Amino acid sequence: MRILITGAAGFIGSTLAHRLLDRGDEVLGYDNLNDYYDVRLKQARLDRLTPRPGFSFVKAALEDRAALEAAFDTFRPQRVVNLAAQAGVRYSLENPRAYVDANIVGFLNILEACRHKGVEHLVYASSSSVYGSNRKLPFAVEDSVDHPVSLYAASKKANELMAHTYSHLFGLPTTGLRFFTVYGPWGRPDMALFLFTRKILAGEPIDVFNYGNHSRDFTYIDDIVEGVVRTLDRVPGPDPAFDPMQPTPASSSAPYRVYNIGNHTPVKLSRYIELIEEATGRRAEKRLLPLQPGDVPDTEADVSALMRDTGYSPGTPVEVGVRRFVEWYRDFYRV
Ligand SMILES: NC(=O)c1ccc[n+]([C@@H]2O[C@H](COP(=O)([O-])OP(=O)(O)OC[C@H]3O[C@@H](n4cnc5c(N)ncnc54)[C@H](O)[C@@H]3O)[C@@H](O)[C@H]2O)c1
Repeated sequence: MRILITGAAGFIGSTLAHRLLDRGDEVLGYDNLNDYYDVRLKQARLDRLTPRPGFSFVKAALEDRAALEAAFDTFRPQRVVNLAAQAGVRYSLENPRAYVDANIVGFLNILEACRHKGVEHLVYASSSSVYGSNRKLPFAVEDSVDHPVSLYAASKKANELMAHTYSHLFGLPTTGLRFFTVYGPWGRPDMALFLFTRKILAGEPIDVFNYGNHSRDFTYIDDIVEGVVRTLDRVPGPDPAFDPMQPTPASSSAPYRVYNIGNHTPVKLSRYIELIEEATGRRAEKRLLPLQPGDVPDTEADVSALMRDTGYSPGTPVEVGVRRFVEWYRDFYRV
């Protein structure tokens, strides 16, 4: 299959690209390599993909309609995985416009291109952050998600709504994936595991928000990629069980689905730090701080919808995943 991956120089996108190339798909990567975090890391991810047969790459932004349309015209993707986005909860308090540009305008361009170029299936990244102020755990796709607590979360929820209209009006099959705190080798430098590992190895103190008491459904990168591949291969149709008199947010009379992809085993932040200490062989010096605005205290995925439709649910234990990350980090940065 010909598959266009946006955000292919990113953490999840680059890992997914390898996985699809391994099974013989042709992949066009699309990414603007912006400087939200270290561009050398993005370039290093890309450098491992570029020599692989079946891989090609376009450096451009989602907002650049002409470049995006040209990429669709030349490559003629059958399926599209949209992972390019302005990510990060905390940064959305400082730079809200970046989220509207990449996640709203950019996503509209993706929808329009998919609509006009006859794409069979659009899979796109949503986020566990859409659950916002919900406190009913685990978070289920049947729950309402109308209380986002950051603009990042609102932009992801907006993507789901926009996708639904395109599924309904133009019959474009779409699948939204709510990823839960993804971690692992080639990960993101703005996320806790990366920040903590860097500081612990450098002998610097780490900032521990919510005094280490919040819990996260940390999900290993390979499990996320497995979930993306399983859902990518399953083009949704209208759900015959959908009842407009009792509408569930998870499905529709349109070819539209959303799934949680999470480890369904929440881990306390303080435990996560212990695992980094074990893997690095160093003690962390902790600066205990209150919960940050925009953050949610706990996350946990209900993955029954994913399991029902794809027969898969993530399961890599954090003990294994953190060790693999620290090994990769030490090797990559030679520390
Ligand atoms: N990593 C997580 O824990 C997590 C959790 C939930 C959701 N997500 C979502 O999954 C997707 C991938 O996340 P990631 O962790 O790989 O992030 P990432 O930042 O590593 O990857 C995103 C890539 O998209 C590119 N990009 C950003 N804006 C762009 C634009 N306007 N045009 C073209 N390229 C652009 C970036 O250069 C980057 O390489 C994102 O949509 C993110 O919001 C991630």
